[in-house]
Amino acid sequence: MKSYPPVNAKAPFIWHGGDYNPEQWPREVWQEDFRLMREAGITVATVGVFSWVTLQPAEDTFNFGWLDEVLDGLHENGIKAILATPSAAQPAWMSQAYPEIMRVNEHGQRLVHSGRVNYCPNSPDYRRFSGDMARRLAERYGQHPAVILWHISNEYDGWCYCDTCAANFREWLKAKYGAIDELNQRYWTAFWSHTYTDWSQIMPPYQHGERLTHGLTLDYFRFMTESNIACYTHERDIIRGITPDIPITTNLMGTYKPFDYRKWAKEMDVITWDCYPQPNQSPGEIAFMHDIMRGLKDGQPFLLMEQTPSSQNWQAVNALKRPGVLRLWSYLALAHGADSVLYFQWRRGRGGSEKLHGAVVEHAGRSDTRVFREVSQLGAELKTLGDNFLGATTQSRVGIVFDWDNWHALDNAIGPVRDKRYYQTVAKHYESFYRQHVPVDVLYADSDLSQYDIVIAPMMYMVKSDFAEQVKQFVAQGGTFVSTYFSGIVDETDLAFENGYPGPLADVLGIWVEEIDALYTGESNSIVMDDGSGTFTCDHLADLLHTEGADVLATYGRDFYEGMPVLTKNQYGAGAAYYIASNPEDAFLDAFYGRVLVEKGIQPAGEAPAGVEIAVRQKVGQSFIFVLNHNAHAVDVNLGEGAFHDLLRNGRASGSFTIAPYDVRVLMSETS
Ligand code: GLA
Ligand code: ZN
Repeated sequence: MKSYPPVNAKAPFIWHGGDYNPEQWPREVWQEDFRLMREAGITVATVGVFSWVTLQPAEDTFNFGWLDEVLDGLHENGIKAILATPSAAQPAWMSQAYPEIMRVNEHGQRLVHSGRVNYCPNSPDYRRFSGDMARRLAERYGQHPAVILWHISNEYDGWCYCDTCAANFREWLKAKYGAIDELNQRYWTAFWSHTYTDWSQIMPPYQHGERLTHGLTLDYFRFMTESNIACYTHERDIIRGITPDIPITTNLMGTYKPFDYRKWAKEMDVITWDCYPQPNQSPGEIAFMHDIMRGLKDGQPFLLMEQTPSSQNWQAVNALKRPGVLRLWSYLALAHGADSVLYFQWRRGRGGSEKLHGAVVEHAGRSDTRVFREVSQLGAELKTLGDNFLGATTQSRVGIVFDWDNWHALDNAIGPVRDKRYYQTVAKHYESFYRQHVPVDVLYADSDLSQYDIVIAPMMYMVKSDFAEQVKQFVAQGGTFVSTYFSGIVDETDLAFENGYPGPLADVLGIWVEEIDALYTGESNSIVMDDGSGTFTCDHLADLLHTEGADVLATYGRDFYEGMPVLTKNQYGAGAAYYIASNPEDAFLDAFYGRVLVEKGIQPAGEAPAGVEIAVRQKVGQSFIFVLNHNAHAVDVNLGEGAFHDLLRNGRASGSFTIAPYDVRVLMSETS
């Protein structure tokens, strides 16, 4: 069983709290904050996130006194601190004195001081100032008893297109390709006479510039990911040198496309992330995002760094979380591997663009509010959970691949449809297992597949050579691999495979895809199962394929490719590889994966009607079963025989029970 040392080792409980910005308030309010935090069961506060100008009002002036007081105040009140470096928003004096710190946007315009996260990630001055501040904070507070985690900057975000970045990019390309001719080959630049004859001709992919040489745009994404990671590791290494025992992180944003988070994860001690679902996201999709975050460090538990206690303010419509939903969604995070419940924000500011963003303490400053009550009740409940499931992991036998490079390459590609729906497609396959109460690990193109029974790689347009090798070994040794339409088209430099589709996966899948049809919105085809088990609709894209060793399990029901294979299965070594050639309706996925799960002997965690989730975290000898009712009505759940201990009600429980609307159970069972 996977096991991880808890990041919470210094504070072994489920952290409950969130972003606290005392620098926006006079001192009198701080004492009131500490009192209210205790009342709400807040145990951890994140401080310093946007405090740069308060800490350093001028280049040679530093002011740490206020932060001394805040950290001491938190400590005296039994509250731990996640201490942030303030580098997400540099002071105006700095932007003014060092204008090349300011980012240049995709139109080539240099920004003027504004907003936040608007610095150039390759600016030497920015690196110097942010590193200096990190060093001062680590030296001053590294031994402070309240500090349990370093939070570097905040939500690294966006790309820069300035001359410094352009020059560094050219160096990065030289190191990668060696010779300009090699780059030309990889970028296929003979197309439209785009051949570069000198490195100096290469420019960042400006909006009004080169965006159609897809190898270049893909490389700029990789370069910008690495440039921003370098800002993080610069501060991290300085801090680590001073406080080697305090873990270091930064807060990620879920499926944020501009950066490859798998690369970030390698540099982070623990994944932390900010969960702000879109209004129309289903619980299954929120679960998927948590699992994406858990997968970044191969299953290591993560921290939920931010969520709103009530509403967001930056969506088109910002509905309140309904009564009970704050608690329910907090457990959704815990069920999928979080060891904390943290909010943005503790107290609503009186001004600025987030003055209408939800907070634990609203402008009225009162504790007799619905939100404060819900937060306090949750705080009390989390306390009773103690350290029970801290560090516990999800033992999944199913893995689903999500790859950032593939996402970029797919979306860059022009044709066969504009809207590729990569993320939605992976989510859709994931959600079939979610509905069947089967845990899934999210994998990346470089993950170790060998510990899984089933690996699914939907729309694996870009197939890197290592991945193809791993898939072959995985299947040869008995694994079940599933891929779908529009897979195996290009290699890691975005060049199409010469042996046709699905490229290096053709052998293991036992097929050859000759053509790809695109369906108009509202158009569909059908999947006719050969064993008579049913007919299902499919849409979006449809591969026209021939078997080369695989068995046909279903055929298209319509159009000129009626009768051609749409579902195939290839025996390969001790395992099997399936190919789903079009985008099927959910009922097909449930039936298909249901059968594959039976084949592999994988049991669901329990029985429950739609809208109920059953998720399990495990430690050696113990299972923690989270049952979440996302329905507005009560439902019956059956977890089977066994002796359970109800952790929230502190008593024995049976495996079959009725669960109230939006209610949660956390049951523990001893396992051998
Ligand atoms: C992000 C940021 C916070 C705040 C919230 C608002 O997660 O990290 O500073 O802006 O969004 O939802
Ligand atoms: Zn730049």
